[in-house]
Amino acid sequence: MTDTTKSPAPGAVAAADRVLIFDTTLRDGEQSPGATMSHAEKLEIATLLDEMGVDIIEAGFPIASEGDFAAVSEIAKQAKNSVICGLARANDKDIDRCWEAIRHARQPRIHTFIGTSPLHRDITKLSQDDMVTRIHETVTRARNLCDNVQWSPMDATRTEHDYLCRVVETAIKAGASTINIPDTVGYTAPRESAALIRMLLERVPGADQVIFATHCHNDLGMATANSLAAVEAGARQIECTINGLGERAGNTALEEVVMALKVRQDIMPYSTGIDTTKIMNLSRRVSQVSGFAVQFNKAIVGKNAFLHESGIHQDGVLKNVETFEIMRPADIGITETNIAMGKHSGRAALRSKLADLGIELADNQLNDVFVRFKALADRKKEIYDEDLIALMADSAANTDSDYLQVKFLRVVCGTEGPQTAELRMLVGDTEQSASTTGDGPVDAAFNAVRTLFPHEARLQLYQVHAVTEGTDAQATVSVRMEENGRIVTGSAADTDTILASVKAYVGALNRLRVRREKSAPDADVKAVSYRSAG
Ligand code: KIV
Ligand code: ZN
Repeated sequence: MTDTTKSPAPGAVAAADRVLIFDTTLRDGEQSPGATMSHAEKLEIATLLDEMGVDIIEAGFPIASEGDFAAVSEIAKQAKNSVICGLARANDKDIDRCWEAIRHARQPRIHTFIGTSPLHRDITKLSQDDMVTRIHETVTRARNLCDNVQWSPMDATRTEHDYLCRVVETAIKAGASTINIPDTVGYTAPRESAALIRMLLERVPGADQVIFATHCHNDLGMATANSLAAVEAGARQIECTINGLGERAGNTALEEVVMALKVRQDIMPYSTGIDTTKIMNLSRRVSQVSGFAVQFNKAIVGKNAFLHESGIHQDGVLKNVETFEIMRPADIGITETNIAMGKHSGRAALRSKLADLGIELADNQLNDVFVRFKALADRKKEIYDEDLIALMADSAANTDSDYLQVKFLRVVCGTEGPQTAELRMLVGDTEQSASTTGDGPVDAAFNAVRTLFPHEARLQLYQVHAVTEGTDAQATVSVRMEENGRIVTGSAADTDTILASVKAYVGALNRLRVRREKSAPDADVKAVSYRSAG
C-alpha cells in the first residue's frame, strides 16, 4: 500500500476552546422510521440550521435515493455559511455520488465510514488487513475529490483499541481531517467516552493534526453526557440532531449540548457558534415536519421546561427567577411577546408576527395562511404563537400530494353507540362519500377514510396534543403508518380533534401514495445499510 499522506485541510485544527457543531438531523435524524421529510422541508430546515450558526450540516446520504441526492445538491447550492456534508459508505460509487451532490457547496465535505468492530467486520467479511486497505483507498479517493474529508469507524466504542488506533491512523494518513468516533448503539458511558478520545489522542500518530468528533446515540440515555465527556477529553466536534431526533432512542440533542456548554462555562469553558435564540423555532419546525412530537418534559425544548407548577416554585420564581431557573426562556428564543392575535388582526399584523417567529412568506403563501388564520380566529378567540406555528405546519405538512382531500365530515358520538361518521372526500378527480360506524368517533371516521381509499397500511401511532390551554385549543394530531416496510407520517391541527385526526390520517395516506410511486430500486439503501446502525 502506498503512503499518500496528505496534510490536513485548512482550518482543520480549531481554536482550543471552540467546539464545532455538526448537525445530522437531515441524515441520521431523518433515518428515524417515519421521520422522512419532503424536499421542501429539508431545504427549509437546512436554511434554519445555517442561519443558527451550525458549523457543519450533514444534509443526507446522496446514494440512498434520487430524492436524497436532489436534497443534498440543493442544500449545497443554497447554504451560505455552513460546511455541507454528505455521507458515503466505503466504496467508490458512494463516494463519487456524494461528491457530485456536494461539489457546488461553498464548503463541501465528504463523510465516509465503515463498521470496524468485530461484529461489523463479520458482516462485511473483511479481514483486519483488508479493511485497512479499503479505508486507505476510500479516504484517498474522497480526498482526491474534496479537500475536506471526515472519516468514521462505525461502532467505534465496540472496536478493539489497538485496531481502532490502526484504522484511525490509516484514515489520517490518507487525508481525513476529521475523525469521528461513533457510539453507534449508544453503549458507552461518560468516563469511557472520555477515555477513548484521550487514548486516541495519545496513541495515534498525527492525531494532533485532526479534529476528533463525537457521535453518540441515546440507547442508555447517556448521549449528551457522553458527548460532553468526549469534549472534555479533547474532541472538538459534536455530532447531534435537533430534538435528539434519530432512530431507536435518537442522537445527542443539539439544544442540550449547546445549552449545557452555555450555562456551565464555569466547568466546561468551550464555545460554539450557535445563536441559541433560534433553538425553539427549529425544535418546533423539526417536530412538525418529522411528525415526532417533543415530549413535554424534554430538556430545554419541552413544553414544560420553563413551567413552574408547584406553589413553592412559583413563589420562588416570582421573587427571584434564578431560584428555579438556570437559563432564561429568551435564551432559546421563547419571547415574552406571545401576545394573542384575534379575528380583528390584519394581514400586516400576521406577517409581522410570523416574521417574529422566523417564518418569512411570499405574498401568495401569506394570502393562503391568512385565509386559514381567519377561519381559525372565527372559531377560537385568541390565537397564540403556538396556534400560528401549528397552522403553518398544517399547511406545509401534507403537501406531498393532495390526491385525497377531506371536503366534509360529520361525526355523531356520545353515550349511545355505535358512533357514526359521514365523510365526503375528493379521491383523485372524483368526490365520493361514505357513512360508517366505529368503536368511538376516531375509529368511525378512519373507517370512512378506509372505505373511500382501501389500503393495507397499519396505523402504528396516533398521538393528540393540545397546542395551547383551554377547551377551544387546537389539537395537533400525528399519525404514523406502515405498509410493506414503508413508514410515513402525517400531522394536522384543528380545534376539532376528530377533523385534525382525519386530516392527519389522510395526509399520511397521500404521502404513502407518493412513496409507492417513487420506490426506486436504490430507495432502500438506507434501510439496508443502517438496520443496525445509526
Ligand atoms: O451512528 C453511526 O455510527 C453513524 C455513522 C454513519 C457515523 O451514524
Ligand atoms: Zn449515528
